[in-house]
Amino acid sequence: MIPLFDLTRQYLKLRGEILDAIDKVVSSGRVILGKNVSEFEREIADFIGVRCAIGVSSGTDALILAMKALNVKQGDVVVTTPYTFIASASCATWAGGLPSFIDVDLRTMNIDLDRLESVIKGEEGGINPKRIKAVVAVHLFGRTLDLDRLNRIQEELGIPVVEDVAQAMGAEWRMEDGSLKKAGSVGKISILSFFPTKNLGAYGDAGAILTNDEELCERLRMLRAHGSRIKYEHEELGMNARLDEIQAAILRIKFRHLEEWNERRIEVARKYGELFKEAGLDEKMEWPEPVDGFKGHVFHQFVVRFKEANFRERVIEAFKKREIGYAIYYPKPLHLQKVFEYLGYKEGDFPNAEELSKTTLALPIFPEIRDDEIEEVVNVIKNALEG
Ligand SMILES: Cc1ncc(COP(=O)(O)O)c(C=O)c1O
Repeated sequence: MIPLFDLTRQYLKLRGEILDAIDKVVSSGRVILGKNVSEFEREIADFIGVRCAIGVSSGTDALILAMKALNVKQGDVVVTTPYTFIASASCATWAGGLPSFIDVDLRTMNIDLDRLESVIKGEEGGINPKRIKAVVAVHLFGRTLDLDRLNRIQEELGIPVVEDVAQAMGAEWRMEDGSLKKAGSVGKISILSFFPTKNLGAYGDAGAILTNDEELCERLRMLRAHGSRIKYEHEELGMNARLDEIQAAILRIKFRHLEEWNERRIEVARKYGELFKEAGLDEKMEWPEPVDGFKGHVFHQFVVRFKEANFRERVIEAFKKREIGYAIYYPKPLHLQKVFEYLGYKEGDFPNAEELSKTTLALPIFPEIRDDEIEEVVNVIKNALEG
C-alpha cells in the first residue's frame, strides 16, 4: 500500500522527542498560553519575516479572526478563488460579509491575478469594486502567488490582502528587486494552518495569524481570547481561539525540520516529473514543475491534470486495485456548493475551476515517501493510460 500521506512514518522518527515535550508541558501544569506558544510565535514570525505571529486554534479560526480584524461587515464583499478549501470563503460569511469569486488560472490553479486587478479597478462587471473590503489570496497546493502583484493590489489599489498560507508554509517568491520573500510576509494579515497533513502539521487542529501591523496584532491577540486584554474585561466580541500549549510544543519540534521536509517534497515533485516524461505521459497529462532557484512551490499537494476526463477515472480504478492513495481537490468548486447557493452563482460561471474539479488528481506526496514508491505510482498511471 502507498498512502497519499503518512503521518506515522514521520512520527516514528520524532517519537521520543515529542513524547518528552508533551510530558514536560503537562508536568509543568501550564497547558494554556505558556512559553511554547509564545516561543513558537516568535520562531514563525522570524521565519516568515513578519513582526507578529499569533497562535490560534485552526486555520479556519485564523481566517474568521482576520475578517473581524479588518472590520468586514454586512454588505462588504471579500474576493477569493472558487477552487480552494471552504474556509477561504466561508470566513467572509462568518464575519457577515459576502464571498465573491474570480476564476483561476488553469496552469497555476491559483486565482487569476489579471482578472482580480481588473475587477478591483472596475474594468470588469460582476462585482461592485466599491464594496470590496478584502481579498483572500490563497497559495493553493503550496504554489506561491506573485507577491509583487499582491503587494500592488494592497498598496496601489488600496485593498487589504489576507494571504491564505494554509497550504504553503515556507513557500517563497523572488521579488522584482531580487530579494526573496516568504508567502505570508506581504498581506495585511496572513494565516497559517497546522492541520496534521499540512507541510508543518500538529497532532490536532492548530493555526496562526501573521501581520506587520502592531495595532492589528494587539487587536487579534485580544480577539483570540474573548476580546479581552485584562482578565474578565471584555472590550469587544472575541472567540476562544487559542493555540494549545501541547500542540505548540509539538510544532516547535517539527518546525526545525520544515525546510528539509519542503526540500524533499520539491525533490519528490521533480522525480515525478522526470518519470512522467520518460514514460511519455506528457501527451496525456500535465503536472506542476518545481520553480528554479527558489521555493516557489512547496508541494503541499502534487496535483496533476489529465487531458481527458475519463483518464482520471481509469487511474483511480488502477490506484484502488494497487492500494495507492489519492484525493480529488476539489470535486465541487465553491460557487456550486449548497452553502453558497444564496450567492446566486451557477454552473459555467467559473469554467477553469469547473474544469479542474473534473480533471485533477492529487498523488501521494510526503517527505518520507520512498523513490521506489514514486516509481510504482508512475508505472500504475502509465499502465492505466496505455491503449
Ligand atoms: C487553503 C486553506 N485555507 C484554510 C484552511 C483551514 O485550515 P484548518 O483546517 O486549520 O481550519 C485549509 C485547510 O485545512 C486550507 O487548505
